[in-house]
Amino acid sequence: MCEIDQKLPRAVEVACPVDSLEQTLTCTIACIQEIFRINPAFTMTLTRKVTAQREMTIDGHFVPSGTTIFSSNHVMHHDPAIWGPTHDVYDPDRFLGPNAESCKRNLAPFSMVHRMCIGRNMAMINILKVVTTVLKCSKLESTNPKEKMRTVSVGNSEKEGPLVVRVRRRNLTGKPGA
Ligand code: HEM
Repeated sequence: MCEIDQKLPRAVEVACPVDSLEQTLTCTIACIQEIFRINPAFTMTLTRKVTAQREMTIDGHFVPSGTTIFSSNHVMHHDPAIWGPTHDVYDPDRFLGPNAESCKRNLAPFSMVHRMCIGRNMAMINILKVVTTVLKCSKLESTNPKEKMRTVSVGNSEKEGPLVVRVRRRNLTGKPGA
């Protein structure tokens, strides 16, 4: 919140302009990356078929031609060998600290290499514009702050049950009572 208040223009009548938002809002980006890590939007497996030219040995296991293999974002993003024992804890600082580069390399919410999501830049721009505009203009409060958030996989990662929030418009004019 502080970062958005300090670094973006005060009065927001339309959505915040996107120019250099990614460079300016490093904390906000780290929060988004950590959300993508802990609850990847895509939880369905991404399958590939091994071709005769690309037979390979993975971790000592020979994978013959014709085999269908897949990776799971959730498994990758919760591997204690990469993320440590706190892989289940929401901690955006991992994307800002000394291991940030390694964390970013192991984050794959849009998949990787030649079949990765072609809409990733459009998605990021939209997420940034919506998140910054909503947080700049409104104060959101859970009606049940003690509620434990649990997500379930339905192909996408979805919150279990409803999320009821109270939304208040923020005073952006600087004038009391406005
Ligand atoms: C948060 C939003 C999004 C997420 C998390 C996401 C994630 C993904 C993932 C994981 C894949 C599978 C890649 C693979 O099989 O390796 C994919 C594919 C794809 N995405 Fe997205 N996506 C998002 C938004 C979008 C948007 C906004 C568009 C279009 C404007 C888009 C268009 C596509 C297309 C066309 C593919 C198929 C690419 C191919 O098979 O070559 N996505 N996306």
